[in-house]
Amino acid sequence: MRSYSLIAPAKINLYLEILGDRSDGYHELAMILQSIDLADQIDIHANSTEAITIHCDHHQVPTDQSNLAYRAAALMAKEFPDVFNNFGGVDIRITKRIPVAAGLAGGSTNAAAVLVGIDLLWDLGLTKSELEELSAKLGSDVPFCISGGTVIATGRGEKLSPLPSIDNVHLVLAKYTSLEVSTPWAYKTYRQVFGSSYIRDTEDLLARAHAVHSEEIVKAVLNQDAVKISQKMHNDLEKVVLPAYPKVLALRDLFSSQAEVLGTMMSGSGPSVFGIVESKEQGEIVKEKIRAAIPDDDLELFVTKTIKNGIQISQK
Ligand code: C5P
Repeated sequence: MRSYSLIAPAKINLYLEILGDRSDGYHELAMILQSIDLADQIDIHANSTEAITIHCDHHQVPTDQSNLAYRAAALMAKEFPDVFNNFGGVDIRITKRIPVAAGLAGGSTNAAAVLVGIDLLWDLGLTKSELEELSAKLGSDVPFCISGGTVIATGRGEKLSPLPSIDNVHLVLAKYTSLEVSTPWAYKTYRQVFGSSYIRDTEDLLARAHAVHSEEIVKAVLNQDAVKISQKMHNDLEKVVLPAYPKVLALRDLFSSQAEVLGTMMSGSGPSVFGIVESKEQGEIVKEKIRAAIPDDDLELFVTKTIKNGIQISQK
């Protein structure tokens, strides 16, 4: 086949704990990552030239080599030079629905879709773990995005330990279009403020990462208990992002004050905020209430739900 169309879902963080520093400059993390049904579409087409091209008409998405989807294709060309020479480059069209620079892994899931798509286009037959290993070279969230679902992620975020998926839990997601939070900035600021309390000892770091498996929120996931999950959510990065972005703090407070919202949290490094609700109907009510309280066109609002998968092939 010469072209594939892939669905690339966003993720939210139900849990994000920063444990300490790593020698590669990143942070040791313990997270629970969750796929949601808000997704981009990636159409990938073999073009029989040497070029990799990106097409996207969303003004916040670069179409040059800085796009992670481009870098994913370039990585495949570098890793499999003979196959690349045989099949040639690819045209990648991104239909963007996931808010950009939002803490929702939008760029990472696009890159994951490109890896899966090229694996299919070039008949490589890579295993899931081979794809995950390759994808870790592109970014910490990319390995998760390949298979998605509900996962405990440790290390940089690339060590994945699947949990039973909690699909069909509804949530309302909000993001100011023009507000972008730089992930490197969020982690750097966190290190400046909280670095002195980082776990330094390697054994202690491993022990803490392992201990996450017995956190209350993991028990709640195992019990498929949406109410308890909502109560036990946590994100360390809120401690630096919320004080620096008063609009995000106000949005989070607004979510918290809605009777229908079971729990609210910023996702990843933000600035998207989500609130878990009992049903799609409750989600629509909350969306209307948030819209009425903040009648600002810049605020994007979605009613969405958790899903149990990552990248999916949508058609030929
Ligand atoms: O891996 P990714 O490119 O998504 O990470 C973006 C930035 O977030 C990194 O450059 C780093 O500053 C920070 N980060 C971190 N520790 C992690 C993941 C990300 O410090 N485990």
